[in-house]
Amino acid sequence: MPKYIPEPFRIKMMEPIRLIDRAARQRALQEAGYNVFGLRSEDVYIDLMTDSGTGAMSQEQWAAMMTGDEAYAGSRSYYRLKAAMDEIFGFKHFVPTHQGRAAENILCAVLLQPGQAVPSNMHFDTTEGNIRARGGLPNNLVSQIAYDPLAHADFKGNMDLEALEAWIQATGVENIPFGMITITNNAGGGQPVSMANLRGVSEIYRKYQIPFFIDACRFAENAYFIKLREPGYADKSPLQIAQEMFSLADGATMSAKKDGMVNIGGFLALNDGALFERVKAELILREGFPTYGGLAGRDLDALATGFYEALQEDYLAYRLSQSEYLCARLREAGVPIIEPPGAHAVYLNAADLLSHLSREELPGQALSIAMYLEGGIRAVELGTVAFGQLKDGQWDFPALEVVRMAIPRRTYTQSHLDYVADTLAEIKANAKQIKSVKMTYAPELLRHFTAQFEIGT
Ligand code: F0G
Repeated sequence: MPKYIPEPFRIKMMEPIRLIDRAARQRALQEAGYNVFGLRSEDVYIDLMTDSGTGAMSQEQWAAMMTGDEAYAGSRSYYRLKAAMDEIFGFKHFVPTHQGRAAENILCAVLLQPGQAVPSNMHFDTTEGNIRARGGLPNNLVSQIAYDPLAHADFKGNMDLEALEAWIQATGVENIPFGMITITNNAGGGQPVSMANLRGVSEIYRKYQIPFFIDACRFAENAYFIKLREPGYADKSPLQIAQEMFSLADGATMSAKKDGMVNIGGFLALNDGALFERVKAELILREGFPTYGGLAGRDLDALATGFYEALQEDYLAYRLSQSEYLCARLREAGVPIIEPPGAHAVYLNAADLLSHLSREELPGQALSIAMYLEGGIRAVELGTVAFGQLKDGQWDFPALEVVRMAIPRRTYTQSHLDYVADTLAEIKANAKQIKSVKMTYAPELLRHFTAQFEIGT
């Protein structure tokens, strides 16, 4: 069993949680249309829906918020954030946004024409949605090993460089307005990308003069994986590694609700001055003036502080130990997971755990329902419901049928994770009793947030 590194903090403010009884959980599920996004969080005991905006802020962040400058333009808070942005990310320009998808929307608005295609290792669903919403085509070119849930590799988030170059030539540079890579690869198990791969991707994009944007949501976790696993980086700090990663790109989008350690926020950063003028125009139209971008001044202060906290080594070591520990407990109980664990989440292999259900019977959704019913635990299906393509009633299934348990930052302790592992062990023991699920309503884009379901017989 890997060592659980004790929290490098103690709890100063507590938020009560409660487990409502089974009959109440059953009712809550029914009212939510068997979609855990429809539950009231008060009715959830352990909420592993997302690590996005759900973490605990530090006393330093709360203190920084008290000094926030709420001026509409040119606030002190903006300049504090700018100093952190300049040091860590190093792009010439940036705008704050209220969250990651706002940055993606602006990027697509200024660069993407209908019919054009955007490559990445794997796009997250909001990125994919933003590209599709403007008539574009998202393309995933992660290395094949990412699709093998049991294969161990240090950097399973890496892009397939040969496939990328072949795809660029087949697609035509004129049809590729920009290229991306997501660190860590959330849609593929939270797996990291190596510096060597980032360098390779950068060289290819530069060779074809395709602007390179990093989706930087979990950049600090990715930097720490590089430190632990990639030769030559053991003696570098996560900050130095982050600086090197971003020096390879032309810009970045980020949901700061992850490794910004804040409850709301994001940014779009880039080097191209002419493009930045268009970004600002788009931002003013939709988000706010470029020095606040849809956030309060105090949010910018919390973020400026949070970026540095996310890069602290004792925090990152503890953070990675949480997911490793939960994975080890699940392995011990024979609960199938995606290997090796990423940092921010543990992914359950629902197709394996509920092998009596076919993929049409939506085993991922069925598992997320069972986790809430059995233990009041909320986790998210990231399989067919989230990523499958539905054409004329026929599914085009994604490679993996997973349920993600994302771990909010600095929020749950070892005993919470033990409870989750124990609940899943029980679910596994009675897995055959879990019934199929049928989708009764689905919106056109970003299906999994609002789709409705019925339980099969
Ligand atoms: N990119 C990645 C890799 C993400 O994980 C997310 C959000 C976004 C972009 C969009 O950011 O939510 O601030 O607009 N992921 C959350 C999650 C929702 O649960 O993984 P946002």
